[in-house]
Amino acid sequence: MKNDSLILLDQYSRPLSDLRISITDKCNFRCVYCMPKEIFGAGYQYLAKSDLLTYEEIVRLVSIMMNFGVTKVRITGGEPLLRNDVDVLISMLAKNSDLDLTLTTNGAFLTKDKSQSLMESGLKRITVSLDSLDDETFNKLNDVNFSVENVLKGISNASSVGFSPIKINMVVMRSVNLSSVVPMALYFKDKGHIVRFIEYMDVGDTNGWKLDEVVSSAEIISLIGDQAPLEPVQPNYAGEVAKRWKYLDGSGEIGVISSVTQPFCGNCSRLRLSAKGELFTCLFASSGHDISSLLRNQATDQDIADCIASIWKMRNDRYSELRNIKSHDLDRIEMSYIGG
Ligand code: GTP
Ligand code: 5AD
Ligand code: SF4
Ligand code: SF4
Repeated sequence: MKNDSLILLDQYSRPLSDLRISITDKCNFRCVYCMPKEIFGAGYQYLAKSDLLTYEEIVRLVSIMMNFGVTKVRITGGEPLLRNDVDVLISMLAKNSDLDLTLTTNGAFLTKDKSQSLMESGLKRITVSLDSLDDETFNKLNDVNFSVENVLKGISNASSVGFSPIKINMVVMRSVNLSSVVPMALYFKDKGHIVRFIEYMDVGDTNGWKLDEVVSSAEIISLIGDQAPLEPVQPNYAGEVAKRWKYLDGSGEIGVISSVTQPFCGNCSRLRLSAKGELFTCLFASSGHDISSLLRNQATDQDIADCIASIWKMRNDRYSELRNIKSHDLDRIEMSYIGG
């Protein structure tokens, strides 16, 4: 049960309600907008296994944060299914039955068995990334020659064990996959899944982001709406990242995530935990707050709670809102390190 007296507010009165947990910084894809090959090549130093938080440590942090009002946990990476027995972590977390427990994956390891064991472990929802239905275009983005068919297979495996609706994340880059937007929308239109079109963001320092590559959500809605008329839908909850639209013919819905053209920092209630145990108060933060040393040095739950409270109370991030106003010279953490 949530104790209202423990609700934390940051410098802009935003509560903490959503925790994103990266369980590995590794990925089998090299998406050009996230882990470009030139940087994430053979010589790249990933976290050592001994540096990763154990599942017990993660679960301890989650229970402490639930006392502060966290109701949603998203497991991310890198690619979270690369970490052994992620199902074990899910089942440990799922003991809190009121937690909205969800996971983002590239779908490569979503076999029928894996999907089944994720479902049985208590995972409630799943999001799969897919940037095009055309192999040549998809390969330009994932950069490891991974086929569309294999991701579609993963989506259908997850669907066959009962995940519904499945959200499908598509990052749009003007020069690469703009022409895939309408085919993606139409392909998934009657299938009960929800495609979310995401504006390409300037996360990290390595993807060579340029504003010219960003396709606004407004443009996306107009492109799709020309083929299949759409109308806006009310958010499911305050602060929902995606803006919802539904097809007028009743065949489903899509979402657009406009962090560049219409930033949503105003009600951002998300805290991110890196695989190594640092807390990041913004996707665009340049540094995190180490919490692993407390976990590993016999700190009490109260000590840890005090530390988290002081981090959240100091929080004043609103990077996406400031992006257009001032330039940022500081190094920024990579998205593959703290998750999507
Ligand atoms: P639901 O719980 O299903 O509503 O999912 P979600 O809206 O939390 O979506 P998801 O975690 O799949 O996030 C989708 C994408 O939105 C991410 O991959 C990012 O590209 C972007 N995004 C999510 N959270 C933030 C955020 O806090 N700031 C910014 N700038 N972008 C975000
Ligand atoms: N811009 C927008 N979204 C990104 N993601 C990763 N890099 C970027 C970026 N530069 C998101 C995608 C992907 C998830 C794992 O991270 O939504 O589906
Ligand atoms: Fe891997 Fe996802 Fe990043 Fe692509 S976007 S490189 S699949 S973590
Ligand atoms: Fe939240 Fe930072 Fe994203 Fe703004 S830019 S929505 S503060 S994570």
